[in-house]
Amino acid sequence: FKLTTYEQLQEDTDRLLETAEKVGANTWQERVKNQTPHCKFGENGVCCRICTMGPCRITPKAPRGICGCDAHGIVGRNFLRFTAGGSATHSDHGREICHTLHIASPDGDYKVKDEAKLRRLAPVFDIDPEGKETYELAHEVALAALEEYGKPFGYQKMTKRATKERQETWLREGILPRAIDREVSTAMHMTHMGNSSLPEALIRQALRNGLSDGWGGSMMGTELSDVLFGTPKEIETEADLGVIKEDEVNICVHGHDPSLSEMIVEYAENPELLALAKEKGANGINIVGVCCTSNEVTMRHGIPMAGNFLSQENVVLTGAMEAIVVDVQCIFPALGPLSKCFHTKFITTSDICRMPDSEFIHMDPTKAGQIAYDIVKMAVENFANRNKDLVYIPQHKQKAYVGYSCEEIIHKLDGVTNSQVDPTGTYRPLAQVVTSGVIRGAVALVGCNNPKVRHDYAHVELMKKLIANDIILVLSGCSAQAAAKAGLLDKRAKELCGDGLKRVCELVDIPPALHMGSCVDISRMMLLVCDLANELGIDTPQLPVVGCAPEYMSEKAVSIGNYVVSTGIDTFLGVQPYVAGSSECTELLTNGIGDWVGATYYVESDIEKLGDMMIERIEEKRKALGI
Ligand code: SF4
Ligand code: FE2
Repeated sequence: FKLTTYEQLQEDTDRLLETAEKVGANTWQERVKNQTPHCKFGENGVCCRICTMGPCRITPKAPRGICGCDAHGIVGRNFLRFTAGGSATHSDHGREICHTLHIASPDGDYKVKDEAKLRRLAPVFDIDPEGKETYELAHEVALAALEEYGKPFGYQKMTKRATKERQETWLREGILPRAIDREVSTAMHMTHMGNSSLPEALIRQALRNGLSDGWGGSMMGTELSDVLFGTPKEIETEADLGVIKEDEVNICVHGHDPSLSEMIVEYAENPELLALAKEKGANGINIVGVCCTSNEVTMRHGIPMAGNFLSQENVVLTGAMEAIVVDVQCIFPALGPLSKCFHTKFITTSDICRMPDSEFIHMDPTKAGQIAYDIVKMAVENFANRNKDLVYIPQHKQKAYVGYSCEEIIHKLDGVTNSQVDPTGTYRPLAQVVTSGVIRGAVALVGCNNPKVRHDYAHVELMKKLIANDIILVLSGCSAQAAAKAGLLDKRAKELCGDGLKRVCELVDIPPALHMGSCVDISRMMLLVCDLANELGIDTPQLPVVGCAPEYMSEKAVSIGNYVVSTGIDTFLGVQPYVAGSSECTELLTNGIGDWVGATYYVESDIEKLGDMMIERIEEKRKALGI
């Protein structure tokens, strides 16, 4: 068993970049060069363009904008707007899922696949499931969930699932989130010209707007997707470009919302379409994915992951992709012109994500099955147009185990619980191995890729270091895909662990890094830490657990960071957020908010140091607990 090395990945990429040059395609590697060095004002967060008296930028000679706002106000406003963008994005994804559940029916395209979860979830929305027919209940829950977005009074209902101490902390600090959309509106209102310029107020709202994402919109996305499409269970799959098949019709699903990709996966097995593929000379229909749409279908169906965020152009550059079908978020507009250099059909499907040089097929959830059928058929018919001279598929791939929802983690733990003495259905065994020191703690490694960091390098290096130090990993998003490509989601990766973690992996039969899903599924991690804290009779900031986004890039990631710290988990970043231009905002985020929520941000671009800092923090927490 060997991990895939950076040199191997680099060779694959270099070979694909040769193809790019041959067809005259423009790539992100080239665009990064054109954009470097980046604008310093932007990097430090001291450029303001929220009114037309500006744009204003802060320098020693011009310390205030025309309205009189100083660097602290400008940085704080920019930080809050950045958060609001991310929070809105996750939450709107969650809303789409609520709508999909609302049209689910026993004879429609969308059905309820996990009724038990639906019944467990109903009381969270103050609905009594007793005696209700499945779809009547599903529609009632969907409606109640949708009401969380715009309700005039009260707080997010799902925050009741956090520890009691968390709920009290959020209320005391004025950051308990109200209606999901309201927190985005408040953020936009506060940052309009002539409103807040006080860093403390702006950062408090950034935390509240993060919480309306993590314990609101994102959690809707996760939980209602489970109800609709099934709660993930352990499943074997593969990752990296080697999952693309030369002799089959390849379709890549990309984006975040699983509604359409679930249907595409289903129609890839349609006998009529398979027969058509044969007729066109293909041996089958192969669905692969990138980014979180990929995570969603890998977690539930074992669909292989072709790559993560910075692999999206490589997928097309193989020359073997009949269609790349996208829904929302993290999609490079570059895919349009790039696809035009090949036979690849670039299919956009959402009103939220419209791009030039794409074929737009509007995804109407009431006709989802037909739409998926049409898209798969288009791809199959396109197989004949493949230019064989341009095809090069790198052969690297790794085996991966995925599907570790909270329910599945508990299920795996039940497998080793002595049910005569211990209660099943809890995190008790996990709590025990943490307190006994067999494993030292846990790190949630999440987030994107960013060309400021060598592709996947920070994710994979940190993972190797942490598991060698007996720290178990929970992963999501592009971080999970980095792990999968490297081989760290293979159960044999236990060989790279310290003795304690290795023993746990053997006993529970898991890899040392658990793929928990897409980025909205970081909400799963929030539930896990709260339940683990409850199990130990402590609050979340006391747990030897930290979060880390070493290669993050998006507004969504900042919104996530804000709800993770607010949930009491220290968060370590490998890329500078745009706040360095304000000593006050930096102080608050890296120290001051600790007094409010019991956790803060740490920023360090040296990956070796970042890893050391996390281990040190985990050991500090253990010491404070006396374990
Ligand atoms: Fe300049 Fe103030 Fe307008 Fe911003 S709001 S652009 S700092 S005048
Ligand atoms: Fe994502």
